[in-house]
Amino acid sequence: MSRVTAQYPPLSTEHIDLSDIEFWGWPLADRQAAFATLRSLDHPPFYAEPEFIFDTGPGYYALVRHADVVEASRNPEVFCSGKGAVSIQDLPTEFNEYFGSILNMDDPKHARQRRIVSRAFTPRMIQKFSDDVAQIATGIVDDLVEQGPCDFVDNVAARLPLTIICRMMGIPDDSYGMVLRNTNMILSGFDPDLISQDMNAAVTQLLTAGSELVDLVTTLGQDRAENPRDDLISALVTANSDGELLTTTELGSFFILLVVAGNETTRNALSHALVLLTDFPEQRELLLADLDGRMAGAVEEIVRCATPVIFMRRTVTRDYRMNGHDYHEGDKAVLFYWSANRDETVFTDPAQFDITRSPNPHVGFGAAGPHFCLGAHLARREITVMLRELLTRVPSIRAAGPPDRLLSSFINGIKHLDCDFSR
Ligand code: HEM
Repeated sequence: MSRVTAQYPPLSTEHIDLSDIEFWGWPLADRQAAFATLRSLDHPPFYAEPEFIFDTGPGYYALVRHADVVEASRNPEVFCSGKGAVSIQDLPTEFNEYFGSILNMDDPKHARQRRIVSRAFTPRMIQKFSDDVAQIATGIVDDLVEQGPCDFVDNVAARLPLTIICRMMGIPDDSYGMVLRNTNMILSGFDPDLISQDMNAAVTQLLTAGSELVDLVTTLGQDRAENPRDDLISALVTANSDGELLTTTELGSFFILLVVAGNETTRNALSHALVLLTDFPEQRELLLADLDGRMAGAVEEIVRCATPVIFMRRTVTRDYRMNGHDYHEGDKAVLFYWSANRDETVFTDPAQFDITRSPNPHVGFGAAGPHFCLGAHLARREITVMLRELLTRVPSIRAAGPPDRLLSSFINGIKHLDCDFSR
């Protein structure tokens, strides 16, 4: 069967503009070739900032090599997250109210809040959710089998992570739809299917989406502060032995971070998994031959190939030389995980989906450092359980056409993906 992602010849440097949204609509093979060209340059390429809702800043260095992404991540004193934001443009103040999460903070503020929110990810919590994950995955595949060929994103990939996060936070069932809609809006990039192309209308849409999510969780937080239960919100809004707790504002932005960071990422990893298993049938056979033995490797390789979060930005705090290039205070450096995960000096044959790849030092969850993904264990668990359930009960499931991709430089998203398992 031919691949569901098209293959095209490479392009040269002057045609590559990472700030041009059209670049992100290029076919996979073109984007792969473009980043290979950028990785081969002597210095990290510099780009003007894309024009979007916020004021345009001084431009940014694109860190496209694995070594640069790793070194910048483990040097938060030099490559910090708290100046401006981790998006390419600095966040205006009104956005910080909703979107100013721990992602955009440095220590000691970051460490304090990360300690508190880590209560969501203790072994006890993860175990509790593991049982939920298995039960939800079974229900999703029950529905899939009954329904027959359909859109994999809506019917499978989107359902598991959303349900888990809503359960974690104790969100009532009838609010799940709003949570999904608003999350899609926040991470819409510039995709015209999801957000207005009029800047003022888009700002209003984003702020409304943020405030609806915050209102929902604030009401729950106020209730749990007075009547704590055995749930995560109660754990976050009541003080632990060190007297630490989240304020209502912090709870709101943590919730937005959870739904955004935990929902869209895992959903897209699952959708990409189906594309990869369709495009590389020999890898599917390998996995099916030993699901238990090869699943862990397959999940890491899916996260490497998918790289659902394409980049995070850092701001340089002082003059610094890294891998032969001089950075100066105030420089913006964008860590392109998507490119680092295809760095041919680290990964042999990087375009090949290889579930036996070992070692696999991908940076899909970020590289080692204070911001390394807090939900990595949960995400691995969700992908593992969902794939095992699918490949056990509908082993012939495959993508029935090319993925309908999100037009975004930040999230490697798939909006729709027809699936078939009728043979
Ligand atoms: C395949 C799924 C996922 C991917 C690819 C992913 C990727 C990432 C990346 C790249 C970062 C930023 C690292 C950095 O700036 O250095 C991050 C941070 C984070 N992720 Fe994930 N993530 C995933 C799933 C999840 C899930 C399921 C949750 C929670 C339910 C979650 C919660 C977080 C949080 C809270 C942070 C912020 C950590 C901090 O700033 O200290 N993620 N993730």
